[in-house]
Amino acid sequence: MKRVLITGINGFVGRYLGLALKKRGIKVFGTSRFKQVNTTEQLSYVDEVLISNISDKEEIKGIIKQVKPDVIFHLAAQSNVRQSWNSPYETILANTAKTLLLFESVKEISKSIRIVTIGSSEEYGYWDGIKFPIVEDEFLNPKNPYAVSKMNISLFVKEFSKIFDLDLVHLRPFNHIGPGQGAGFVVPDFAQQIVEIERKSRRPEIIVGNLNAKRDFTDVRDIVEAYVLAAEKGITGGIYNICSGESVEISYVLKSLISMSSENIEIKIDESKFRPNDIPDYYGSNAKFRALTSWRPEFTLHQTLNDVLNDIRSKRTDGK
Ligand code: GDD
Repeated sequence: MKRVLITGINGFVGRYLGLALKKRGIKVFGTSRFKQVNTTEQLSYVDEVLISNISDKEEIKGIIKQVKPDVIFHLAAQSNVRQSWNSPYETILANTAKTLLLFESVKEISKSIRIVTIGSSEEYGYWDGIKFPIVEDEFLNPKNPYAVSKMNISLFVKEFSKIFDLDLVHLRPFNHIGPGQGAGFVVPDFAQQIVEIERKSRRPEIIVGNLNAKRDFTDVRDIVEAYVLAAEKGITGGIYNICSGESVEISYVLKSLISMSSENIEIKIDESKFRPNDIPDYYGSNAKFRALTSWRPEFTLHQTLNDVLNDIRSKRTDGK
């Protein structure tokens, strides 16, 4: 792997992935839909950022011809589960339809380009007979528009790699967290409020959603190491879970974050933050991926939560 293209490089994961690849001496190009790209430390390492929202096949083909990547990491997506209930059509368009445009573009240019697609543990959804830890050939029963949009990609990966001989690898990361994750996900939502309480800009009360759900968390810095290994070692048409293998209750995440602050904080549950259909528990098996690579997560949950809090504390009140 000498040249890569990362779609959505300006997103939370894209910035870490760009940095991980640059550290290996790889030429990194990215797409961003924003004209003014983020100038964080991570993005300054990137060779070139091209503006595209991946909605025009000729434009995508032009970018691929210009960059000449060996590997494309397709990260650009609508990644918020709750938001997908408000915009199901946009979610399918952003996640499934745009992935198909990328597949068609590569099919027309060069089938030797590997595409790593990013799915989600949400593809498994939930059913009475689901077995834990969840393995890759578990029955898929997605429960929200986001989950359906990602499941569709995995079905296309399986078929297109066989029928069109495309070099596709599909990953199913479980929850990933770390410094720089935007609002709307549980850890930054909690941490931001704690920092506001520390700054005395809100009363000492944290407003939260469903605390009973359990999730399998991995640090984004471990996640991107797995993505690189998947690009290097994944089998064409292969699907791999990327996860820690254990779940923790959201109440535990909340209590851990609160314990890292000296403030006396009251917890208030707000039912308007609940989803129409929240999966009660999720943890995956990473055995298939670990049989292929030597990957294992390095960051503890405690370390990651601490880093997230300190990152928010280090930013100005306007988030910069
Ligand atoms: N966002 C948020 N905010 N979630 C809350 C809150 C809150 O204030 N309070 C409780 N929760 C609960 C949610 O109901 C859910 O059960 C859990 O915390 C995790 O929510 P999110 O962080 O929003 O993540 P997610 O599990 O819905 O989806 C994430 O993980 C997927 C992989 O499993 C996203 O990162 C997806 O893009 C990803 O595919």
